[in-house]
Amino acid sequence: MTATMQPTIVGSQPNAEGYRDFTLGQFHLRRDEYFAYISWPTGSHMMSVDAFLRALQRDVAWDFFYGTVNFDGVFGTVNHYGTVDIFAGRYNEAYRKAELDYSENVETPLIRETFKAILDDWTNETFDPFASPHETGSAFGIKNGDNAGAVRRERVTAQRMVGVPGDAVLRSDESGYPVNRMFADVPQDEPLVEPEPGFEGEVASFSLFAYLSRSDVTWNPSVASACKDSLFCPTTEEYILPIIHGNDRVEWFVQLSDEITWEVEDRDTGAVRARVVMKAGDVSAMAADIRHQGYSPKRSMLLVWENANPDLPELIASGKTPTYPIEF
Ligand code: PHB
Ligand code: FE
Repeated sequence: MTATMQPTIVGSQPNAEGYRDFTLGQFHLRRDEYFAYISWPTGSHMMSVDAFLRALQRDVAWDFFYGTVNFDGVFGTVNHYGTVDIFAGRYNEAYRKAELDYSENVETPLIRETFKAILDDWTNETFDPFASPHETGSAFGIKNGDNAGAVRRERVTAQRMVGVPGDAVLRSDESGYPVNRMFADVPQDEPLVEPEPGFEGEVASFSLFAYLSRSDVTWNPSVASACKDSLFCPTTEEYILPIIHGNDRVEWFVQLSDEITWEVEDRDTGAVRARVVMKAGDVSAMAADIRHQGYSPKRSMLLVWENANPDLPELIASGKTPTYPIEF
């Protein structure tokens, strides 16, 4: 299968509300003014369309992320890095017991192109799925234009570090990224760097707080520095993480400002495991057998520290590496 794979659009005409229907394997997806409807051979599900599009936006932008992206307690995807499972009820104990759960494995290019096409078609001109609810218009109603500029945004992925010559650029007033209303008190001065002659391209430094204060998106970690498999992925958060992330490796959180409450559940059943309240300066490790969703009452700054080693999912699944990071 190739990257030019065409998504399957059902019918030659949009539905009564102006939106296209799509199929992916035996899943069928459609939207109307308020809801997204998903059906599969053994069941069906509906989600508020704003929540659906916010989750879909992350799944597309992160190319299915690490492990599981639950859109809610029923529908989502599991990344196998080359193929993706699309599932319904698979990680929901009640659906499993009732045998209503269903899962299909598809080639990544097919689900990628299908999800992109749904996101493009179902997002109206007024709605930005990456923005905080307070900074965007409505997702609802009959089809009303599109918002291609917003939904096709690509996150920053530095090869070495933001600000290093030739790498991801710093944000400034000239770059068109204003300081967010909730970060008006964040100092904007940059550190002074005085490298020895000949090392100008090797030594760099930037204010991460100033950088993040200008982020125009929420719940969208960008790679701000990379050292082998160690990725620092800072992000700004407001309202609710639009997905429930099921880990296939340990990840660390460093709360850089304000406060986030994390609801932590068993990855496979959804059983409640913990509530973690993180205040500025707190550090936590999310285990490899959980799923989590964050709630941020004020726009906050979070550093997500990821280990991109591609061997980790197999090492953890086979028990060779523990699901937690440290033995105390
Ligand atoms: C996570 O799933 O760990 C995650 C995702 C997006 C964020 C923050 C954390 O913005
Ligand atoms: Fe996570």
